[in-house]
Amino acid sequence: MRQLAAGNWKMNGVTASLSEVEVLKQHLKARPANCDVMICPPATLVMALAEAAAGSPIQVGGQNCHAKASGAHTGDVSAQMLADAGATAVIVGHSERRADHGETNEQVRAKAEAAHAAGLTAIICLGETLKQREAGETLAVVHDQLQHSLPTDSTGANTIIAYEPVWAIGTGLTPTPAQVGEVHQALRGALSALVGPEAAHAIRILYGGSVKPDNADELMGVGDVDGALVGGASLKAADFAKIIAAF
Ligand code: 13P
Repeated sequence: MRQLAAGNWKMNGVTASLSEVEVLKQHLKARPANCDVMICPPATLVMALAEAAAGSPIQVGGQNCHAKASGAHTGDVSAQMLADAGATAVIVGHSERRADHGETNEQVRAKAEAAHAAGLTAIICLGETLKQREAGETLAVVHDQLQHSLPTDSTGANTIIAYEPVWAIGTGLTPTPAQVGEVHQALRGALSALVGPEAAHAIRILYGGSVKPDNADELMGVGDVDGALVGGASLKAADFAKIIAAF
């Protein structure tokens, strides 16, 4: 299946950052990507980034959504609003939201269901902490997160999984290719049991956590890795373009 390079800008970016989109567009014109490309900016930039990316292969995603379509939820953004602003996807259950806002698997699933209802692809994040890895719990942890965060109607068209070991995010540390492959293979098997083999083979499983221009080639070559969710290295178009070129 076609891989995806998705950039998660996290809480970074103001209007001036849209110049990076222009630079990325030039890179992609000079060297068309062998993969799908997406940027998930902060909510304030979704509409402007969608406009800046129009006519290019760059897709736009949100970073979070509320589980409800509308209502009295001051400060929240719904999946429908993101879709209206030009997003085609939304990240749900990022470990930073699980940690900062105490989001549970059940809440993440409700958000993913809201994304589906709004016609968005849900990018469902999961991953173990260092303590869990050292205790040998990695596969059990990600299996539990997948089982309880994944809507039952998930297909390759509406769902992407992102395996992001918490200890690899923003640290410069990455699992070995064998460790990544072990988790992705286990996730594929778990998906098959949860939504059937056909959907399981169509749902992309991204790796995220310190993906950089110098390790993208190795990580993206691992079996069952269908793309990358890139944080820091997606902020500068030159770096993100190098990662995309490694696909
Ligand atoms: P870094 O690429 O900065 O490690 O972030 C990964 C991530 O959390 C993407 O969602």
